Amino acid sequence: MQFYQMSTKLLRDTVGELNDSLTSVVLAGLFFTLTVGYVSKRLLRESSDKNLKYPPYIPSSIPFLGHAIAFGKSPIEFLENAYEKYGPVFSFTMVGKTFTFLLGSDAAALMFNSKNEDLNAEDVYSKLTTPVFGKGVAYDVPNHVFLEQKKMFKTGLNIARFKQHVKLVEAETVDYFQRWGDSGERNLFEALSELIILTASSCLHGKEIRSMLNERVAQLYADLDGGFSHAAWLLPTWVPLPSFRKRDKAHLEIKKMFFKVIEKRRQSGEKADDILQTLIDATYKEGRPMNDNEVAGMLIGLLLAGQHTSSTTSAWLGFFLARDKALQEHCYAEQKAVCGEDLPPLDYDQLKDLSLLERCLKETLRLRPPIMSMMRMARTPQTAAGYTIPVGHQICVSPTVNHRLRDTWMERMEFNPDRYLNDNPAAGEKFAYIPFGAGRHRCIGENFAYVQIKTIWSTLLRMFEFDLVDGYFPAVNYTTMIHTPYNPIIRYKRRKQ
Ligand code: HEM
Ligand SMILES: *[C@@H]1O[C@H](CO)[C@@H](O)[C@H](O)[C@H]1NC(C)=O
Repeated sequence: MQFYQMSTKLLRDTVGELNDSLTSVVLAGLFFTLTVGYVSKRLLRESSDKNLKYPPYIPSSIPFLGHAIAFGKSPIEFLENAYEKYGPVFSFTMVGKTFTFLLGSDAAALMFNSKNEDLNAEDVYSKLTTPVFGKGVAYDVPNHVFLEQKKMFKTGLNIARFKQHVKLVEAETVDYFQRWGDSGERNLFEALSELIILTASSCLHGKEIRSMLNERVAQLYADLDGGFSHAAWLLPTWVPLPSFRKRDKAHLEIKKMFFKVIEKRRQSGEKADDILQTLIDATYKEGRPMNDNEVAGMLIGLLLAGQHTSSTTSAWLGFFLARDKALQEHCYAEQKAVCGEDLPPLDYDQLKDLSLLERCLKETLRLRPPIMSMMRMARTPQTAAGYTIPVGHQICVSPTVNHRLRDTWMERMEFNPDRYLNDNPAAGEKFAYIPFGAGRHRCIGENFAYVQIKTIWSTLLRMFEFDLVDGYFPAVNYTTMIHTPYNPIIRYKRRKQ
C-alpha cells in the first residue's frame, strides 16, 4: 500500500501503454489542463497572505514536472540532501502537485497525531485502492467505518490463529522450495513473491480460496495488482488504458469467486476457525454484519496489503543474511538451541523465542522499510516547525529517512541487529522507527507479518545455506512504488541434515 513515486520513466511507461493516437490526444489535453491549473495555482499562491511563513520551497527550473526526475531516480538521497539544506520541513513540486515532507521524529508527530479530517488519507489513496479493493471498504468509506473494519480483522488475529499460521506457512515454504533442488542461483524476490501469495491466501483467506489458487487466478491477482501503477495515480480513472481494463476485469472475476465461497460458508452452518469466518461473523457497532461485498473487498485488501510489504522485506532479509555468513550461522544455531538439535516442526512458542532472527527482521525493516513514505492531503492549514502548511499540500513522512537520520542513529547505515539490545538515541524518539506507521492509520498486520516472515526464514535456514553471487549485494530498484532489490539473484546450497 504505497502510493507514489515519480520519474521520467513513469511518464514513459504511461505513454508507452497508450496504444492508439486517440488516447494520446486525450492525454495531451489532460496535461494541458493540469498545467494551466498548476500555473494559476502558483500565481494565486504568490499573491496570498504575506504574513504567514510557509515551509522553505525547493525551486525547480522545470515547469510542471518539477523535481519528479531527481526524486524518481533517487528519492532517499533527494530527501536527505533537502534535509541538510532546508531542515526537517520543506516543500517541492512534482507533476503539478506540491509535496511537503516532515522529516525526523518531531516533525512526523504532526501526521501521526492529526485527525483524518485535517490530514486526510482517502484524498490521496482512494483513487488507487478503490478500483482494486472495490467499494465499501478501506479508503472508499468514512475513516470511522474503516477503523471498525480494521478492528474486526484484528480480532481474527489471535494467538490460536497464529499457531495455525505457523504450520500452514512452514508447509507451504517446504513445498514451494522443493523446486529449488540442491544448489543453484535463483531470483529470491520472485520466489518469495510467489510463495507469499500462497501463504497469505492460506492464512488470511482460508482453505477454500487457497485451493482455487492456480495459475489463472494468480494471473488475475497480478492484473489486479497492476492497478497500483503510476498511470493510475497520474491519470483520471476514465482514461481507457489497457491496464485499467485488465484491473477492472480481474476485480470482477475475483469478487465473483469470493462471493461463491462466502455464500457456501454462510449456508453450511458449520463454523470454520479462520479469519474468513471472523469477517463473516463480525458486526459493526450499529449491529449490522458486513455484507458479501465488504467481506470480499477486505479479503482483496488484506492479501495485497500484506503481499508486497512482506515479500520485499523477506527478500532483503535474505540478502542481509547471505552477506553476513556468521550472522546466518548464528540464526541457524539459535534455532537448534531453541527448538532442539533435531529441528522438529516449527511451533509458535518457539518461534517467539528466536530473538536474533527477530532482531534481524527488525533491522531489515529499519534499513529497507517497504513503505518508503506515507501521504496525507492537508484539508486544513497545518503548523509544523513554525511553518504554516497550506491546504492542498500532500504531506509526507518517510520511514526510510527517519530510520537513518544522522542525529538519531549511531552507525546508521550498518546492519546491526544487536543495536536494539543497547541504549540508542532512537529509543527516546517516538517516531524514529516507524516501518508500520503510527496513529489512526497504523498497520494492523505487524504481528502477522512477523509470524509469517520468521516462519519462512526459519524454514529456509533449515533447508539451505545462502551466499551472495560473487559478492553482489543488490542495489535498490526504485522503479516501483515499493523499493525492491535490484537483480535479486541469490546462491544457495542444500544443508546436509
Ligand atoms: C512487513 C510488512 C508490513 C509493513 C512494513 C506494513 C506497513 C504499513 C504502514 C507503514 C502502514 C501505514 C500507512 C499509512 O499510514 O499511510 C500500514 C497500514 C496498514 N497495513 Fe500494513 N504493513 C505490513 C504488512 C501488512 C499486512 C500483512 C497486513 C494485513 C494482513 C497489513 C494491513 C494494513 C492495514 C489494513 C493498514 C491500515 C491502513 C489505514 O488505516 O489507513 N499490513 N502498513
Ligand atoms: C526492477 O523493478 C521492475 C518493476 O518491478 C522490474 O520489472 C525489473 O525487472 C526490476 N529490475 C531488476 C534488474 O531487478
